[in-house]
Parts: sequence; C-alpha cells; structure tokens
Amino acid sequence: MKILVTGGCGFIGSHIVDELLANGHDVLVIDNLSSGYIRNLNKSARFYKMDFMSLEAERIIKEFTPEVVIHHAAQVSVQKSMINPVEDATTNIIGTIKLLDYCNKAGVRKIIYASSAAVYGNPDYLPINEDHQIHPISYYGISKYTPEQYIRTFCSNNELNYTILRYANVFGERQDAKGEGGVVAIFLDRLLNHEPPSLYGDGEQTRDFIYVKDIVSANLFVMDKGNNDLFNVSTGEGVSLNNLYDLMNSGLKKNITPIFESPRKGDILHSYLDNAKLKALGWAPKFNIESGLRDVFKNLNN
Ligand SMILES: NC(=O)c1ccc[n+]([C@@H]2O[C@H](COP(=O)([O-])OP(=O)(O)OC[C@H]3O[C@@H](n4cnc5c(N)ncnc54)[C@H](O)[C@@H]3O)[C@@H](O)[C@H]2O)c1
Repeated sequence: MKILVTGGCGFIGSHIVDELLANGHDVLVIDNLSSGYIRNLNKSARFYKMDFMSLEAERIIKEFTPEVVIHHAAQVSVQKSMINPVEDATTNIIGTIKLLDYCNKAGVRKIIYASSAAVYGNPDYLPINEDHQIHPISYYGISKYTPEQYIRTFCSNNELNYTILRYANVFGERQDAKGEGGVVAIFLDRLLNHEPPSLYGDGEQTRDFIYVKDIVSANLFVMDKGNNDLFNVSTGEGVSLNNLYDLMNSGLKKNITPIFESPRKGDILHSYLDNAKLKALGWAPKFNIESGLRDVFKNLNN
C-alpha cells in the first residue's frame, strides 16, 4: 500500500516508517528536518525535504496518490508554543487543514493523526479517558486539539476516514535529549555521560510512559480499524519519576544520585491515560516501563 508519513525523520515517525517498510508498504516521507534528522530516515523510503504544508508538497502528494496518510509532522515543543504561538498554530493547525485539503484532492482513503495527552490539561480524574474534558494549559495543547476538530468535520464532509490517536509520554530509541526532550531521553543522556540529571519537585509525579514500539503497533493497527474515532494510546499506568530514575540508574549499572530542584510552575502532578477503548478494539501495549527500558538498553549495545 502507498503510505505518506509526514514527520518521518522524527522520533516517532521514523519508527513507523521502518515498520511500514518491513511490512512491504511503499512509503513516502515528507519532513523539513526542523526537529528531525536525516540519520533517522530509513533508506528504503522515498523522501522529500520540504514543508508538509507547501505547494510542492501538495503536488508531490497528488503524484504519489497515497491510500493512507500518517500525520506526525508538527511543532512539538510546549515551550516554543508559549513563546511563539503563531508559529505553533501555523504548523499544527493551518498546516493540518492544508494537509487535509491535499489528501482530499489526492484521493486519500484515510488519515491517522498523532494527537497528545496535552489536550486534556490538568486531569479532573485518573486514568484520563477519551470523555475527559478538554482544557489544555499550553498553546501546544490547543494546537494539537484544534486539528482534531477540523479532521472530524472535514472527513465527514468528504470521502475521507480518520483515526485520531492521543499519545501518552512516548519514549524509546532516537528520542531527542536536547531542548525539552522526553524525560527518559534526558535521563539516559545524563546517565551515559556520568552526570546527575535534575528532578523537579519530590520526584513522586507520575506519568504514563509508553514505548515507541507500542505507538508504532497502534498506528499500524488503526490503518484499517477504528475509523472516524479517537483513542488514547497509553499503558494505562502511572510511573513516578523516582521509580523511572531508579529503573534507569540500576538498569545501566550506575549509582548516580539525581539533583532535586524546586518544582516547576505549572507541572502536572499525576497523569496517566485509560487505554480501554483501543484495547476493546483488539490492540494492547506489549511493553511496560521495565521491558521497554530493557529493550532500549539492549539496543544501546548494538
Ligand atoms: N513524543 C511524545 O511523547 C509525543 C506525545 C504525544 C504526541 N506526540 C506527537 O507525535 C508527533 C511526532 O512527535 P515526535 O516526538 O516524534 O517529534 P519529532 O520532533 O521527533 O518529530 C516531528 C517531525 O516533524 C518534522 N516537521 C516539523 N514541522 C514540519 C513541517 N512544517 N514540515 C515537514 N516536517 C515537519 C520534524 O522535522 C520532525 O522530523 C507530533 O505530532 C507530536 O505532537 C508526541
């Protein structure tokens, strides 16, 4: 099947591309390398270095005529969204509207959209299910949510199916430790460099850490299921940062004490997502934090 992956040079997108190619699909990647890397790109993929919302991209998509579009390109930094909400909204909201138009003109059958737990904001209850209120606390949360609405309405007005996936905290190989990167990537980077990472607050905050391989399997799973619906993709379990740190410190055979710093303003204390809805359809995560980390550590030595 012909599949377009936007953001296929990024952390998550590149893993999806690998799996699609391994399954014999014909994969086109559009990525402007603004936060992704060419080293992440599978050499068997077709690749255009360009903005996914450009007119060239429209032409390329029309020529390629993908059946499915997996949309992962985005402005992904919460901090940047707070400093420059216009740029954030332009890529994430306007960009996605343009992509919908390009998909429609190219006769795409289905679009899969990578959304985020950031749309929920501070949880009213745990685990957060898909019916939880939407009250994002960052512009990034707004710019990930607004396209969900456009996708829903656009697809119902046109011959296009969609699935929206709201990811918990994703971790795994190729995650960037730079900038605000994922906490697992940051801990890994510090520990491998024999440096103590910082923990903000008492470290008892919990997050739902899902291994990137489970995110990949969810994307492939919904290629022909879960049409015109939205799903959390998560482990359903909260893991404290202290617990995560201990697992990483011991797993890497280090004995480094982290630096405890004052809590960061606006940090959510506890967050984990209910994954029962996607599970009911037949998908389940194969990894928990321990087995996911074991896989990451094993791959460090390969
Ligand atoms: N990492 C997480 O924990 C997480 C959680 C929830 C949702 N998501 C979503 O998953 C998707 C992928 O995130 P990631 O963590 O892999 O980030 P990433 O930064 O590694 O990947 C994003 C990719 O999109 C590309 N890109 C950005 N703007 C572009 C543009 N205008 N045109 C073409 N390419 C562009 C970047 O170069 C990069 O390769 C994003 O949509 C993000 O919002 C990620």
